[in-house]
Amino acid sequence: MRSVSNQCLLMQIQPTILRFAKMLASVLQLEVEIVDADMVRVAGTGPYGKFFGRQLEGDSRLLRYVIDNQREKIVTHTSDDPVCDGCTCKESCRERAFLGVPIMVDERCIGVISLVAFSDEQQARLNNNLQDVCDYVRHISTIFVAKLLDSRGLSDGVNKVFLNLMTNMDQGCLLLDDKSQLLYANEAALHHLGCQQEQLQGREVGIRPLTFSQQGLSGHLQHIITFEGRQELIIGQLHHVQGQQLFLMAFHQSHSGQVQEPDPDVRIDQLIGESKPMRTLKRLLHRIAQSPSSVLICGESGTGKEVVARAVHRLSPRQDKPFIAINCAAIPEQLLESELFGYVKGSFTGASSGGKQGLIQAAHQGTLFLDEIGDMPLTMQAKLLRVLELREVTPIGASRPVPVDIRIIAATHQHLDQYIAEGKFREDLYYRINVIPLNLPPLREREGDVELLTHYFLNLHTSRIGIVYPGLAPEVMALLKGYRWPGNVRELSNLIEYLVNVSQAGEVIDASLLPPNIIRNQEPHRVTAQSIPVTNLDAAFNVPAAAPLAAMSEKLPESVPGESGLESMEKQMIEETLQRLGNKKLAAQALGIGIATLYRKIKKYEIAVQS
Ligand SMILES: Nc1ncnc2c1ncn2[C@@H]1O[C@H](COP(=O)(O)OP(=O)(O)OP(=O)(O)O)[C@@H](O)[C@H]1O
Ligand SMILES: [Mg+2]
Repeated sequence: MRSVSNQCLLMQIQPTILRFAKMLASVLQLEVEIVDADMVRVAGTGPYGKFFGRQLEGDSRLLRYVIDNQREKIVTHTSDDPVCDGCTCKESCRERAFLGVPIMVDERCIGVISLVAFSDEQQARLNNNLQDVCDYVRHISTIFVAKLLDSRGLSDGVNKVFLNLMTNMDQGCLLLDDKSQLLYANEAALHHLGCQQEQLQGREVGIRPLTFSQQGLSGHLQHIITFEGRQELIIGQLHHVQGQQLFLMAFHQSHSGQVQEPDPDVRIDQLIGESKPMRTLKRLLHRIAQSPSSVLICGESGTGKEVVARAVHRLSPRQDKPFIAINCAAIPEQLLESELFGYVKGSFTGASSGGKQGLIQAAHQGTLFLDEIGDMPLTMQAKLLRVLELREVTPIGASRPVPVDIRIIAATHQHLDQYIAEGKFREDLYYRINVIPLNLPPLREREGDVELLTHYFLNLHTSRIGIVYPGLAPEVMALLKGYRWPGNVRELSNLIEYLVNVSQAGEVIDASLLPPNIIRNQEPHRVTAQSIPVTNLDAAFNVPAAAPLAAMSEKLPESVPGESGLESMEKQMIEETLQRLGNKKLAAQALGIGIATLYRKIKKYEIAVQS
């Protein structure tokens, strides 16, 4: 029989598990679902990012298989797997590939961590690295469970205290259930939304972020709040707690016309980077900050466009005035106009009764940051152009324009010249905003910055979650430097946050914690002699197809620790190679496996290694 306390354990610390699931999904770029032994969804991402705390409907045979057999299940092509035969959901199933790893506590399975591929790309990513990913998740799940057990003993009965706290808070606060229906709104929240408790109680309320990058340490973002056919833009933090959503509103709302607090996170010295292109950029920022001319920041996703926009604002004479950010791609067309231009009382159905100031006016004497400008609809582009030419704005329904003094900083990861050629972007607007063009180089072109940023994020994320700064093994740094970083600085930040979360307190982060894709996708020419103290590096990072251990591992798709004869052969082979070569990197090379896989296997088989 399964123990009730173990099931409770997973749900009790659901926020921790959800955070872990999201981070795991982000570093492996696959969807994650975590269920307990009763098939209750504890956490998940993508299509599995809802209905937490509810028992899964339908067969879910693969998860059931992992729980019943207490062992991994790997499926490369879901519809072909015998376990899926006769499944009632087979026709509608969108899962392409699946990997499920049991969460074992005291030799019992208390749940499953599963990775699921929905697209061709995800399927290829999972299938190309199956054994590595499987080893990796098993390894991470062991560490993770150890952490969980440490955090057992959470107190019950916090709910009353929590409710009392919300009622008496000066900060606006909304609590939604797992169906996004309002459970509770305090007075301050009702005031910001301009409505009564009775209007909202039990009604569906939508909350979603408008811009995706964080505004400093507080994590405050602009959110679109949708209710009763109305939409409001409110700044706040959205937390997911045990399947519920808790939205904490900031005291100062940008469109209430109040000046925002200067953001402590965006000073120029927090724009990390000492590589040549970054030093040049920083010098340029100091110069251009003084001017009121429009700036267009171009760069791949995650290169820090918003960080640069904020730095320009902070360096400018407008630093004490508002910095208003709007993500043109995230906001629906109808809402974009009313948010940017504002409206007067009674100008359209659904408008709040008092009218509302637009963001352009709210940014008066400050900076308006138009993120993802390439996605601004053409009609809005024309209206924005008028504002820039005339330096005045006419709120919807108003009879007279209002003069405004704003500096525009726009950003895009698109190629706007191509958009112009395709008729998706107005050429005249392009010339208006592209007075000062800034191009942010991708991280892979910033020599030396990966190391600086890694230390910066280690500091940042450990202080955010209040833990001791962990050490980083030299191999890890070498591997981080040799990776291509397609998701740029954001990808690095996400990875470090994840590593800080999964590492054991006080322990050095070693290569075994690195996700397999970082190890596999090394760019040999980027790994220099200084970055890793071993010769013949290209070979060390490229797994030869016929390498003995790699070939052997491929024959072991579902190995059970401690049971297989092949595993003891594997252990022997590793021990022998390590002894012979006396160096882990050379041994990994000789065995034809990645260094991180070697670390995992050393841990798994408890092989003693001389340092
Ligand atoms: N040079 C940097 N120094 C410190 N942190 C940085 C730097 N560049 C980016 N970041 C961090 O990386 C993350 C992504 O940055 P940002 O949101 O500015 O990127 P972006 O180019 O706007 O990305 P996207 O195109 O996806 O919107 C943020 O968390 C930001 O704080
Ligand atoms: Mg951005």
